[in-house]
Amino acid sequence: MSSDRAVSNAAFEGGRSDIAIEARGLSKAFPIYAKPHHRLMQMLAPGDKRRWYREFHALKNVDFSVRRGETVGIVGRNGSGKSTLLQIVCGILDPTGGRIEVSGRIAALLELGAGFNPEFTGRENVYLNATVLGLTRDQIEDKFDEIVDFADIGEFIDQPVKTYSSGMYVRLAFAVAINVMPEILIVDEALSVGDEGFQRKCFAKIDEIRDAGATVLFVSHSAGTVIELCDRAILIDHGELIRIGAPKEVVADYQRLIYAPADKARGLRERIRAEYHGAADIDATPTPRTAADGGVERPQDAEAFADFWDEHLLPKSTVRYESFGASIEDPHIETPEGRRVNVICHGREYEYVYTARFSRAHAGVRFGMMIKTVVGVEIAGAATSTEQAGGGVVDAGDEVRVRFRFRCALNAGTYFLNAGIVAASPEGERYIERHVDAAMFRVMPVSGSLSTALVDLDFSPQLSRTMR
Ligand SMILES: Nc1ncnc2c1ncn2[C@@H]1O[C@H](COP(=O)(O)OP(=O)(O)OP(=O)(O)O)[C@@H](O)[C@H]1O
Ligand SMILES: [Mg+2]
Repeated sequence: MSSDRAVSNAAFEGGRSDIAIEARGLSKAFPIYAKPHHRLMQMLAPGDKRRWYREFHALKNVDFSVRRGETVGIVGRNGSGKSTLLQIVCGILDPTGGRIEVSGRIAALLELGAGFNPEFTGRENVYLNATVLGLTRDQIEDKFDEIVDFADIGEFIDQPVKTYSSGMYVRLAFAVAINVMPEILIVDEALSVGDEGFQRKCFAKIDEIRDAGATVLFVSHSAGTVIELCDRAILIDHGELIRIGAPKEVVADYQRLIYAPADKARGLRERIRAEYHGAADIDATPTPRTAADGGVERPQDAEAFADFWDEHLLPKSTVRYESFGASIEDPHIETPEGRRVNVICHGREYEYVYTARFSRAHAGVRFGMMIKTVVGVEIAGAATSTEQAGGGVVDAGDEVRVRFRFRCALNAGTYFLNAGIVAASPEGERYIERHVDAAMFRVMPVSGSLSTALVDLDFSPQLSRTMR
């Protein structure tokens, strides 16, 4: 890692450098007081041998560098130390160990409207905030309309911000932070508060800021956002940086970690850490912008990719419609060997299975299923026969095991399953039993996959270059 040293020295010496953020051995310990009065005891007797607190290590020995113009995403489970890290980068918190070097004008969006004074109006806060971000009064006046337009909060701009909804707060804070065109933009999940339209607008603006050469460091729980936006990603777990590298690979490890059953998580974490720790900092090959440029593939880890049953992965949104002499029971996915699973692997075969019980005779019986996304987009469905071909006849007391075998062509994500039975009636075909969101499942990410969006159509990309 000798070249790494050289680069970091240049950064620390303030010479010409392409490093915007440099963290070395960064650590943060918070004092934890078992009882409120212990804090007071500690303050009153700082020289006392007895310590009135224990230390909680929120960050442990974190090393990384961000190049100027790079966009880096930070992922990790809740409480892993992401926000603590961003707060140290912004100078809101001091590290208890190691050092951080930041060079460039920094704008940060951390907690809701941090930096806003609740008693002041939106207008006053824009001036205050932009001043803190390093703009002169003239510059703010030039930008003011743009900021207010972007925030789109109408006449609320002249109301005290304490009367704002959380969405309005974030809109205004974001409008200020990104319209001052910072050299370094730090965002901590604030975006997730805004509505979708506003989020799109923000992403477009972040693109503009990046194109202008700014460095962006942000925390997100959205795998898609990190993969789309970032040049590199950092995975933090239990306060440790356990991996840094290509967003797709890092997000894949992150998802494996959050989907792993509790007894496997620790081992998996150690594997990720052992495999990557220290290997890929500033010397890492920059991530290609598009996978077609040749993303670094690594062998799939057979165990990490094993499908499994996660008992917590159950839909909370199941709706059962009125039934007419039929019931659907135990809808679930299983492997061809009959093992029940709900975290499944891309490319493998599975069966969607349910049992239909009839308390009444029916004719023209057809069984169906549908797979939907979290937002309800129907992706794929099937029935056991066509409407033209008609369905079968069942008697009261019949039980039918319904199986839909499929190959999982879905990309990583969470999906919901419907199940339904239709039968002939004097008015035509109608549902005699129907469950919406009867079951749910997750598809595990595949590292090195070139496929994007929901479905993998097994594309074979080809490039032919014409030499001039
Ligand atoms: N001021 C503090 N005093 C004591 N502990 C703290 C303090 N701030 C944070 N922590 C602890 O440090 C750990 C990391 O917190 P942090 O907010 O950085 O996590 P995070 O990764 O941002 O989580 P999330 O995804 O929920 O936002 C947590 O266990 C948290 O309880
Ligand atoms: Mg956080």
